[in-house]
Amino acid sequence: MHRTNLLVLQRLQLQDAVALATFYNGLSEASIRTFRPLGTQTTVEICEHMASRNLGADENYDLVAWINGRIVGWCFIWNLSEEKPTFGLSVADAFHGQGVGSRLMDSVIVEARHRKLAKVYLTVVKDNDIAWKMYARRGFVQYDEKRSHDDGLVYRHMVLPIESKDDL
Ligand SMILES: CC(C)(COP(=O)(O)OP(=O)(O)OC[C@H]1O[C@@H](n2cnc3c(N)ncnc32)[C@H](O)[C@@H]1OP(=O)(O)O)[C@@H](O)C(=O)NCCC(=O)NCCS
Repeated sequence: MHRTNLLVLQRLQLQDAVALATFYNGLSEASIRTFRPLGTQTTVEICEHMASRNLGADENYDLVAWINGRIVGWCFIWNLSEEKPTFGLSVADAFHGQGVGSRLMDSVIVEARHRKLAKVYLTVVKDNDIAWKMYARRGFVQYDEKRSHDDGLVYRHMVLPIESKDDL
């Protein structure tokens, strides 16, 4: 049976904070090396705060992938109304290579178009070939490359210029 058949994508809600913290704290060391928007570990309180940014002022758009009551992937655009809306994506290690990341990313990009964001930005560790190739295939273009003072890793800085379908 195809496990992705059971996949449900849903915007992050306040009651998902425990599941999101469990997902995040369960990421492998290799995944945390390339994806740590909340640091190396998180807490339920921090996840609750992240979820609250999807309400009211609508500062962030976080989409989570569920399989059998467990969050197995998370994709977001943060700072929706600021100059540089920021994209992120991660999938639980046991679910890599099953299309979860692609499904999440494609849905979030549809949302970015729907919201008529002009551009979406991301940073990706230079040697993270699977991720940057996924991004390049969807139109993200590298505009810079920098070594981080914090962790010594080299990051590609990429941007997706969004063409609204209405403008075509
Ligand atoms: C990058 C990541 C999100 C991809 O998610 P995923 O669910 O495994 O990806 P998918 O199964 O949708 O596959 C996406 C593409 O990568 C390819 N791919 C996935 N795993 C691969 C592997 N181990 N080796 C080679 N190619 C691989 C797939 O073939 C697919 O290619 P296609 O678009 O040409 O069909 C996931 O590997 C991950 O969470 N990594 C750790 C965190 C991270 O690095 N996040 C990105 C931070 S910028």
